[in-house]
Amino acid sequence: MDILLDLNIVIDLLVPLRKGYSVAKEIDRIIKERGYRKWISASSIDNLYYILLLEAKKFNIRHGEKLKLEFKKFLGEAKIFSVTAASVWEAIDSEDLEDHLLYTNFKRIAPDGIIISNDKKFQKFPDVISAEEFTEKYRNPLCTKNIQLLDLQEEYRYMIEEIDHVVLKNIAKAQYILGPEVKELEDKIAQYIGVKHCIGCSSGTEALVLSLRALAIKIKGQEYFDKNEKIITTPFTFTATGDAILRAGATPVFVDIDLDTYNIDPKKIREYLNRSKNVVGIIPVHLYGHPANMDEIMKIAREYNLFVVEDVAQAFGGMWKDKKLGSIGTTGCFSFFPSKNLGGFGDGGMVSTNDGKIAEIIRMLIKHGGKDKYNVEHIGYNARLDTLQASILLAKFKYVDEFNERRRRIAEFYNKELKNIKEIVLPKEEANSYHVYHQYTIRVKHGKRDKLKQFLQEKGISSMVYYPFLLKDMKVFSDRCEVYGNLKRAEKATKEVLSLPIEPLLKEEDILKVTNTIKEFFKKNK
Ligand SMILES: Cc1ncc(COP(=O)(O)O)c(C=O)c1O
Repeated sequence: MDILLDLNIVIDLLVPLRKGYSVAKEIDRIIKERGYRKWISASSIDNLYYILLLEAKKFNIRHGEKLKLEFKKFLGEAKIFSVTAASVWEAIDSEDLEDHLLYTNFKRIAPDGIIISNDKKFQKFPDVISAEEFTEKYRNPLCTKNIQLLDLQEEYRYMIEEIDHVVLKNIAKAQYILGPEVKELEDKIAQYIGVKHCIGCSSGTEALVLSLRALAIKIKGQEYFDKNEKIITTPFTFTATGDAILRAGATPVFVDIDLDTYNIDPKKIREYLNRSKNVVGIIPVHLYGHPANMDEIMKIAREYNLFVVEDVAQAFGGMWKDKKLGSIGTTGCFSFFPSKNLGGFGDGGMVSTNDGKIAEIIRMLIKHGGKDKYNVEHIGYNARLDTLQASILLAKFKYVDEFNERRRRIAEFYNKELKNIKEIVLPKEEANSYHVYHQYTIRVKHGKRDKLKQFLQEKGISSMVYYPFLLKDMKVFSDRCEVYGNLKRAEKATKEVLSLPIEPLLKEEDILKVTNTIKEFFKKNK
């Protein structure tokens, strides 16, 4: 929960001789105990310091270093939000300019947040409550809020100062296309993943298309693959995986998955290869953040001389043995779609590779196909990563390991709470795998999945089915793909999977609300 403290409350908190000190301390205790976030407006800070000095004088407190330390400590614990210039003009005719500015700017960032103020006039605004009212209402820790699958506003609030700073800085700098932040991000991620080259691009989908096009150019010396050239992949994935194969000119071949990890089954790849010719490559997808079995896949690829394009859209930071995903295949394709483990504020993607030639071709393809504007060699795209996105991603990158760990702890908590429900299958983390839980996905047996989803919805809890259909059943693939075998396990997954909220900033009480609701459902629906 987000709580804006009006100046009168902050002063009460920092000056022990004031009447409101003990209530303010109680507010602070509740905020800390329950992991709430306290806010102050950047526009109030100089005023706060000035008033503190006056208060110190009034109460005869020697205001030197100690007061400054308390003031700094408070700022270190609080989040600081900016007041936008445009909001000044929106508030200029209001009765109380200061209250209006505080209110509208805080609500812009935290629409469900509350404001604690002892100013009676301010209390007339919705969600503005007195110090006593707050302590009365929030002493009892019970989760009453709706729980989303992912709460991107919450994540923005968590790192607001850094994000606001880089956004404003980069807008003002106006180097919008291929600015230095793009290269900085590419270098940082290349080092993080452990590859020689990373190339930023406009989306995860484009990362896949660019990889395949570069492979066709390098291997065959042609712009595209042919229809009779086949690429094996999973039918249980987002459309983009299969769509990229079509866009690169080849034919997708769908083989069944392993129901423990929901990833492509290497045994099925091998079976298909033993019966078929003209396969050029494999695209394993590290679905939900769980690595595909890369030892087996790479072994098969070596035996049959195939390329491997890893679809890492859902698994940034995930590992197979001691290797980061995206560093094992010929290329790795990342998505920075906002909901991904490393997500921007719009579309974005990246290709990782150790192959210098492929990197060079992709660098051309993202800029219309040439090394420079008037020297175009290939049929290219306009598929660059924006500087603004890169700067946001750089700021968020600092948090990616922490957030992946948080996701893993939430998964552990779910596992512990849900382990005794016989009608659900919990996600597994196979040997050699470091799962980054892009999704925490359970399987609900006996046809109860949709009913459980509905029940959760009624209790204010979001959940999602990824994916209700196999790619082979979509019109675009119907006469453009090949299907090996019956895909029974993948079909089963479409009917049973359900992804639960996995927002890295979820609190224990939020997760308990989810697990208790699931328990309640199965008690009622035996
Ligand atoms: C498995 C998979 N592959 C590819 C993509 C495509 O990424 P983007 O949305 O950035 O184009 C996604 C995105 O949802 C995905 O989940």
